[in-house]
Amino acid sequence: MCGIVGYTGNKKAKDILISGLKNLEYRGYDSAGICLQENNELLIFKDKGRIKNLITIIDGLSPNAISGIGHTRWATHGEPNQINSHPHTDCKNSIAIVHNGIIENYTEIKKFLESKGHIFKSETDSEVISHLIEEFYEGDFKEAFLNMLKIIEGAYAILAMDKNTPNTIIGARKGSPLILGIGNNENFLVSDPSAIVGYTANVVYLDDGEVVIIKNNEFEILDPVSKKSINKKVEHISWSLKEISKDGYPDFMLKEIFEQQQTIKNAFRGRISIENYDVKLGGLKLTPKDIQDIQRVFFISCGTSWHAGIYAKYVMEDLSRIISEHEYASEFRYRNPLIKEDDIFFFISQSGETADTLAALKLVKQLNGRVYGITNVVGSSIAREAGQGVYTHAGPEIGVASTKAFTSQLVVTLLIALYFGKFRKTVPQDKLIKIIEDLNKLPDIVENFLKKNIEILKSISFKYKDISNALYLGRGLNFPIALEGALKLKEISYIHAEGYPAAEMKHGPIALIDKNFPVFVIATRELYEKVISNIEEVKARGAKVVAIANEGDKKITKLADDVIFVPELEYHVQPIINVIPLQLIAYYIASFKGKDVDKPRNLAKSVTVE
Ligand code: M6R
Repeated sequence: MCGIVGYTGNKKAKDILISGLKNLEYRGYDSAGICLQENNELLIFKDKGRIKNLITIIDGLSPNAISGIGHTRWATHGEPNQINSHPHTDCKNSIAIVHNGIIENYTEIKKFLESKGHIFKSETDSEVISHLIEEFYEGDFKEAFLNMLKIIEGAYAILAMDKNTPNTIIGARKGSPLILGIGNNENFLVSDPSAIVGYTANVVYLDDGEVVIIKNNEFEILDPVSKKSINKKVEHISWSLKEISKDGYPDFMLKEIFEQQQTIKNAFRGRISIENYDVKLGGLKLTPKDIQDIQRVFFISCGTSWHAGIYAKYVMEDLSRIISEHEYASEFRYRNPLIKEDDIFFFISQSGETADTLAALKLVKQLNGRVYGITNVVGSSIAREAGQGVYTHAGPEIGVASTKAFTSQLVVTLLIALYFGKFRKTVPQDKLIKIIEDLNKLPDIVENFLKKNIEILKSISFKYKDISNALYLGRGLNFPIALEGALKLKEISYIHAEGYPAAEMKHGPIALIDKNFPVFVIATRELYEKVISNIEEVKARGAKVVAIANEGDKKITKLADDVIFVPELEYHVQPIINVIPLQLIAYYIASFKGKDVDKPRNLAKSVTVE
């Protein structure tokens, strides 16, 4: 939800800001802009739409500025036009700011500032920041910035520049991510590491309430109230340029779907032992006694991660026999939840920055609940706020539609369920062996599946590319897979799709079915006969059926209009491969329709506002 980048150093800031913004574009793409400081002037360039529009404006210009700030926007307040694009300035164009988040009390602040004669140019909440700094400015940029922070409420990562304080950027964060990148005689302030890959691997993760000042080769992190410096650990990020490039694929989403042969392995590597059929999870810090005593497990998340939460609930209850719940973070945080001493809470998030998930985590902490992160981005807010948990290790996911992060979440939550089951002695040995063996085989199975099935997936996608609606059905562990298949289709191709538990379909959605309303059914072995009856029911109403079925299933060939065969796996492992053809069908349908699959309209990768 908006990406910000700041640079001071010895190189041309324009190039560094543009390259950083390109890598951050997946966070929001309604508009983009930069501010460069040159000859004690602030030069602002901005435009609505993608970064390529901004590049057109500045193409040919060669400013010598060695410091600047940039922004790529996901609009919250004010339509995505040029005026509402960041950076925003004060009345005199002396102060420029970029902001990610929402200033909740901006209406009161704006009224106050207008009464003092400030003239606003945009409809954004963010513009109050530059005017407030101007209002407090008495020759000391830092003081004015700190005074501004005392007034604003809400969530923010802010970068600000003052034309009278050369080559200095001040940043602050509360609720939105901000990372300091420390280079050689240069410093960066960015929303996420993708913006600095190739420049530096040394970072400091700023915490909420901290302020940072960068000046070429110096930086200082301080507490805005005491104004004292804070010493923070410099950490090392492992993101590579290859990981954040398309690497020959036409889209990040396709690259990330194909990466699953590796990312699934990364999710279980070092955590399962095929020799003695064991599961180990270092990050949970729970003793066998703690695990014995757990009464309830909650999985709290949003979007695709919420679908992983449903799967997690099912496998946790089945394998560890602990009562489990899955919750939308946005609902949980506002419903005055009851938390008991022996409950534990997992917060599932690819980005680790989703505002509702983070807020739900903070709420549980306040209520003295035990919290664990299941995150992909190392060092993200949820990972750090939880302090313990399990990383999914899927590597950077850039496509807005989550794919590889989802299958990694399934693997990790399955491992947690097995781990708890091991200490609670609730997993029969033969089941444990089969799950571990099949998990271990899964990367090769995925690789073969992708090698063999692309052409058939393309031709099925082509056949259905002009549909307006689709229903996705699955039962048991395949119910969240149906939800995920439907979400993938709707978010990147803008085709209306709904996921349902296959039997529940009879309680309403079946009324929608006709020959133009295809049904995608996951019909692998779990509850197979029941699902077959559900297919008969929709066929009887004229629906075209596309089935995901196990290899060797002859019955399904007669019943479904199109079938994609997947190898048969232990039923807890099976859903992890079942979702891959659904991801690819969504991908190819959207591509055939000419959609920008990596940057679907209205969406952003990381939802850092509620
Ligand atoms: O980063 P998170 O996993 O917390 O993100 C949650 C959702 O915003 C995310 O899964 C979203 O639904 C994706 N666009 C799904 O493809």
